[in-house]
Amino acid sequence: MKVSFYGHVRQYHNIQREIDANIRKVLESGEYVLGPMLKQFEAELARFSHTKFAIGVGNGTDAIWLALMVLGIGPGDEVITHPNTFFATAEGIWIAGATAVFADCCPKTKCIDPAKIEAAITTKTKAIIPVHLYGQCADMRAIKKIADKHKLRLIEDNAQAIDAKGPDFHIGELSDAATISFIIQKNLGTFGDGGAVITNNAGLDATIRKLRNHGSNQRNVHSFGFNSRLDDLHAGILSAKLKHIHAWSDQRRQWAARYTAGLKGAKNFDLPVELPGYRHVFHLYVIETKKPQQRDPLVKFLVDHGIDAKTHYSTAIHKQAGFPWGKGARVVGSVANAEHNAACCVSLPMFPELTAKEVDCVIAKVMEWDRAQK
Ligand SMILES: Cc1ncc(COP(=O)(O)O)c(C=O)c1O
Repeated sequence: MKVSFYGHVRQYHNIQREIDANIRKVLESGEYVLGPMLKQFEAELARFSHTKFAIGVGNGTDAIWLALMVLGIGPGDEVITHPNTFFATAEGIWIAGATAVFADCCPKTKCIDPAKIEAAITTKTKAIIPVHLYGQCADMRAIKKIADKHKLRLIEDNAQAIDAKGPDFHIGELSDAATISFIIQKNLGTFGDGGAVITNNAGLDATIRKLRNHGSNQRNVHSFGFNSRLDDLHAGILSAKLKHIHAWSDQRRQWAARYTAGLKGAKNFDLPVELPGYRHVFHLYVIETKKPQQRDPLVKFLVDHGIDAKTHYSTAIHKQAGFPWGKGARVVGSVANAEHNAACCVSLPMFPELTAKEVDCVIAKVMEWDRAQK
């Protein structure tokens, strides 16, 4: 049996009529950029996110540097994040012209460890970017306390955790802004690239709206800006999918529970941890081999047996060749947890349209590998 890593086409077929209807609506409207479908989707996304505003932009990376820029963060400033995230988190900091400061992650959640943040703060520190990695929220209450104490801005990189929740907070509630990616493989993904910023700050909303559109919110009137808009065709696709996201997250959570039950007791890897009270939406279901040298053989074993396993992310950012490419960067103390995560992570197939048979097949193969280890 073959098990693929993504279910994009299955998902399209399941809701084809809704997606096609929205695409047709946009095509027939004659308005494809900053048109009515984008406006509709932004209102739907803000409502879904419990925030006052949502601004559609070109992609999740632009969302990060736009948010930083609007908060006045740039050259000479430091922004704290962790090194076992997707490269774009750091890239957003560098595009804004700031220095990326890497603190270690929590060994359980793999999100930034709040206990490691204060040691990274200097007089230059202006912001923290926690990443809700793999679909589970970082400990925003603890991070917010630190941000308030040191008067720092907070931007949540929420590329991976739409519809996740903390025990007593929503994403976007405790920060200046949260950024979202809609690239196809995300839990809410379009057939291409897209992104958004959600915020409760009216000034931030107004400035990002201008910046994304050549510094303009009125025809022929410009200040400095960029072109980074979410196209109406993508907004239409995302609007159709947004109606299903909660049910899809629930389904992901069910597959995660099935994986966890089936893989319990294995001796050669650790399972993902969902913190009590958190709603983890399992963008990825990531196990970690006990030893780094076990990781590539496990991935190869699965791929050889038709199961498309991947790694997220097998090289911590500060270990990429050529780091930091002349950009500002600092690693604070030991980042051993992040390095262990990078060296040992294996992502198993995870998407709502999986079948029980496929999940059980993955479990059987992973356990077969586990039993074969000395
Ligand atoms: C954690 C994280 N941040 C930022 C991004 C950047 O998003 P995009 O690819 O839409 O630019 C991604 C995904 O690609 C991501 O996983």
